[in-house]
Amino acid sequence: MPDAVPAPPTAPPSGALLERLRAILGPAGLLTDPADTAAHVEDWRRLYRGRTAAVLRPADTAELAACVAACAEAGVAIVPQGGNTSMVGGAVPAADGSELILSLSRLNRIRAIDPVDLTLTIEAGATLKAAQNAAQEAGCLLPLSIGSEGTAQVGGILSTNAGGNNTVRYGNARDMVLGLEVVLPDGQVWNGLRRLRKDNTGYCLRQLFVGAEGTLGIITAAVLKLVPRPRETEVALCAVASAEAALSLFNRVQTHDPASIQAFEYMSGLGLRFVLKHIPGVSLPLSVPAEHYALIELATPRPEAGLRAALESVLEAAMEAGEVLDAVVAESGAQRAALWKLREEHSEAQKREGASVKNDVSVPVSKVPELIRRATAACERLMPGIRAVPFGHMGDGNIHFNLEQPEGMDPAAFLAQDHAIMDTVCEVVRDLDGSFSAEHGIGLLKPYMMPEWRGGAELELMRRIKQAIDPGGLMNPGKVLP
Ligand code: MLT
Ligand code: ZN
Repeated sequence: MPDAVPAPPTAPPSGALLERLRAILGPAGLLTDPADTAAHVEDWRRLYRGRTAAVLRPADTAELAACVAACAEAGVAIVPQGGNTSMVGGAVPAADGSELILSLSRLNRIRAIDPVDLTLTIEAGATLKAAQNAAQEAGCLLPLSIGSEGTAQVGGILSTNAGGNNTVRYGNARDMVLGLEVVLPDGQVWNGLRRLRKDNTGYCLRQLFVGAEGTLGIITAAVLKLVPRPRETEVALCAVASAEAALSLFNRVQTHDPASIQAFEYMSGLGLRFVLKHIPGVSLPLSVPAEHYALIELATPRPEAGLRAALESVLEAAMEAGEVLDAVVAESGAQRAALWKLREEHSEAQKREGASVKNDVSVPVSKVPELIRRATAACERLMPGIRAVPFGHMGDGNIHFNLEQPEGMDPAAFLAQDHAIMDTVCEVVRDLDGSFSAEHGIGLLKPYMMPEWRGGAELELMRRIKQAIDPGGLMNPGKVLP
């Protein structure tokens, strides 16, 4: 295949363009004061800081489309931004100030919900939490859950094809999308908000925009699939003998009743110690601290399914086999939330402990213990004193193989080694037939890895798609494609 055509240079926003955008958006819809734009130009991890002349805050799809059309005419690039919770700098503008940020926050309406069709039609700027709440009020469940769900927005979640805790049962964000509304790079609106379960009508365009990280257009609304709300939910925290024991436990639960596994998460002893150290109001409800833990959630919409008894009998058998050392099963909704908090605060606790390098990787589920063992040893060889904090979604093979700086090391000196650390982990991941990017996406952090992992025909095809849909290179430049 021929080499890709390099993206044409984009223009800096002129005063005339900003005036035109102000006329479209009204004064409340355009932020230009650096005090107002500051929170939009830096990512959650504080790895990247860009500059921008303005943050555009359209109130609806028509305003958004008019802004995109005006920018396209002027050749000015746009960075779409949802809750700005990206782990890979996916929503940060360039440092030269040439890109405008387009915030989806005001497009946050629930357009429709149908408990018979089991669909939710929602705008991109609604938070995932708001989407979950809307589903719940209608007696349904939106089975997508991530740590940042109170801030992360539906548009960003779809654009990154987020996964999270329930992938083991329901798949990733991609699997929940029936329809999309998208503003294309020239300002056209594609209304693909269909809520059909069967619709074979040529190329599946919606799936092009899911996971594209805003590089092909801006998702403004979506039709998401819901499921019936569970009647029974059980959550258990288990201290386990090893990562291998956690895998055996997963296998036991899966063999017993695969249809009820809602989540199966792994945590290391060190990760949990960071949570206990840095997060106020949490405690370990087990008699012995361990080096490995599993958090299990089972749920079912079936009446009288007897989940509790089933869970207890699986745990008992695993204890007899020496896999589970101790376990607690939550007795109430509050206890379930408290157990989940120990898992969900991992990222925050790690941030408070010091500088960390994240590796959002996946391997076949059966290889997770080997990944943990081999990557830990490889990183310790690379940098004595480095602290491996593997945790995450064991049930779907996605481990956050995060590395915390050695105690006392200068954080900047540690972060300067990020590529060496990421490459060390990825060498093991490659050997285990895994992926260097599981659920966080590519953003600004990982485009350099694309040629090695997805080079040849695959990357060339991606470049052709980009060229066909966004020939001006105006949509989220610098992200995904190297
Ligand atoms: C999580 O599952 O908590 C996040 O995706 C992980 C991270 O901080 O790397
Ligand atoms: Zn995760």
